[in-house]
Amino acid sequence: MLRTIRILALVLILLLGGFWTWAWVARAPGQDLGAALAGRLESLFGAQPVVSLGGVQLPGGVELGGPFALVDQDGREVTQVDYAGRWMLVYFGYTYCPDVCPTELGAMAAAMDLLGPRAERVAPVFITIDPERDTPETLRAYVAQFHPRLQGLTGTPEATGAVARRYRVYHAQARRQGDTPYLVDHSSFIYLVGPDGRVRTLFRPQTPPEAMAASMAGLIGP
Ligand code: NI
Repeated sequence: MLRTIRILALVLILLLGGFWTWAWVARAPGQDLGAALAGRLESLFGAQPVVSLGGVQLPGGVELGGPFALVDQDGREVTQVDYAGRWMLVYFGYTYCPDVCPTELGAMAAAMDLLGPRAERVAPVFITIDPERDTPETLRAYVAQFHPRLQGLTGTPEATGAVARRYRVYHAQARRQGDTPYLVDHSSFIYLVGPDGRVRTLFRPQTPPEAMAASMAGLIGP
């Protein structure tokens, strides 16, 4: 009897743990776990349609992207209007990032190359979430390391913060430790934005370039 209760308890714990993990893994960028759990419950019981973007599920009504006013690596003012009619492949990060940003920007660049001639219709864009250090000059040297067409956008902290919020990018400056340069924690999704400025799909961290290129090719068309 005691054994049966123990087994039932274990099964219950595993089920709850699995559900929690599912909600955590499938949550949208910037979405908190409570909202993610509610979203998963709703999707299980059909209470609310869940929008799926590139395998990342967004709760109904979540809007990503929108207008922005920033400065590019050459100091030119740019807005969403400058990209109208073109696709954008957007990543948020910072040039001092030790590992994640270089990895994801490398994957973006590789996906662009794999796309072939279709890549000409796509503008790859890196938007900093650390405008204090990422000046246009810093960005110019940085983006050139990854792809000749990669653009680096910065601006005032208010301007970059507003864009990050529209894309639901989580970012937080980590506490400074002694003299070492500070780090910035941030979420790491790559956004494919359509010619109309709407986010069409998200790529999770560590999406292989081949998968990214295939998904982009399907959406962009021949
Ligand atoms: Ni990073």
